[in-house]
Amino acid sequence: MASDSTATATATTAVLPTQRLLGRVALVTGGASGIGESIVRLFHRHGAKVCIADIQDDLGEQLCKSLGGDPNISFCHCNVTIEDDVKHAVEFTADKFGTLDIMVNNAGISGPPASDIRDAQLSDFDLTFDINVRGVFVGMKHAARVMIPKKSGAIVSLCSVSSAVGGLGPHAYTASKHAVLGLTKSVAAELGKHGIRVNCVSPYAVATNLALAHLHEDERTEDSWTGFRNFVRSNANLQGVDLTVDDVANAVVFLSSDEARYISGANLMVDGGFTAANHSLRVFR
Ligand SMILES: NC(=O)c1ccc[n+]([C@@H]2O[C@H](COP(=O)([O-])OP(=O)(O)OC[C@H]3O[C@@H](n4cnc5c(N)ncnc54)[C@H](O)[C@@H]3O)[C@@H](O)[C@H]2O)c1
Repeated sequence: MASDSTATATATTAVLPTQRLLGRVALVTGGASGIGESIVRLFHRHGAKVCIADIQDDLGEQLCKSLGGDPNISFCHCNVTIEDDVKHAVEFTADKFGTLDIMVNNAGISGPPASDIRDAQLSDFDLTFDINVRGVFVGMKHAARVMIPKKSGAIVSLCSVSSAVGGLGPHAYTASKHAVLGLTKSVAAELGKHGIRVNCVSPYAVATNLALAHLHEDERTEDSWTGFRNFVRSNANLQGVDLTVDDVANAVVFLSSDEARYISGANLMVDGGFTAANHSLRVFR
């Protein structure tokens, strides 16, 4: 009897403080790798039921397996540039887990490096907007269809420091992230009356495939990761800490949880003060 109640107390204390999304149903686009994978893992640890939506089926299935084949984790093929795919992913999630509480619009690309506007290809520009902007918009639209009738929900989109300053990435990428911030504010303004919160998260550079896309194939060696990290460190505002995918995922968990219950329309910078500082003058060097 004594050991039973001890076990209950232990289980309770082990679950309550850490499982901030217990029983919540989430859909994460681009969830098979990079920041999205970290979001999926952290959501799972916080007790959420998660559907991974991605174009990389093998990685998505592998991630499900690596989480122990838990029936609360599922994969759904979804290309966010195709509205029917996003509609299907939302319906699949709601059918499988009963509802949709959290929509994470994470899928994104940086597009190829383009340091001279005269060489820019409109096809690259269009693809960046198709994934980064239209993909986020249809995610918001189809999530809203499930969330409005139940009068609750949290939509979190991955934005970037490029939503605040230019010159960090290709023009289309910078413009697309400004657009994600615009959509976040606009959709937050519409959905507030339904009790739905809409926010975005803006990280500084994190070592993922997207961040490395700017390097040429033959430069993508172990050394290039080190070179990338050193470059990122030397340009960071906050020193002594490296930004990780988990730091970004923690911000997404926060905005998805009840701890952020009165936060909507916000762009949470996860940049160590990078966009708060003017680096050109270096007054405080
Ligand atoms: N890595 C960074 O430094 C950084 C910084 C700021 C913002 N971000 C943003 O974070 C998000 C995730 O980036 P990441 O660094 O993890 O990138 P990543 O390339 O490592 O992962 C992106 C994931 O999205 C998936 N994806 C790509 N196109 C898709 C499509 N059409 N439909 C569905 N899924 C698709 C990929 O398969 C992959 O699993 C992006 O929106 C990106 O702009 C990244």
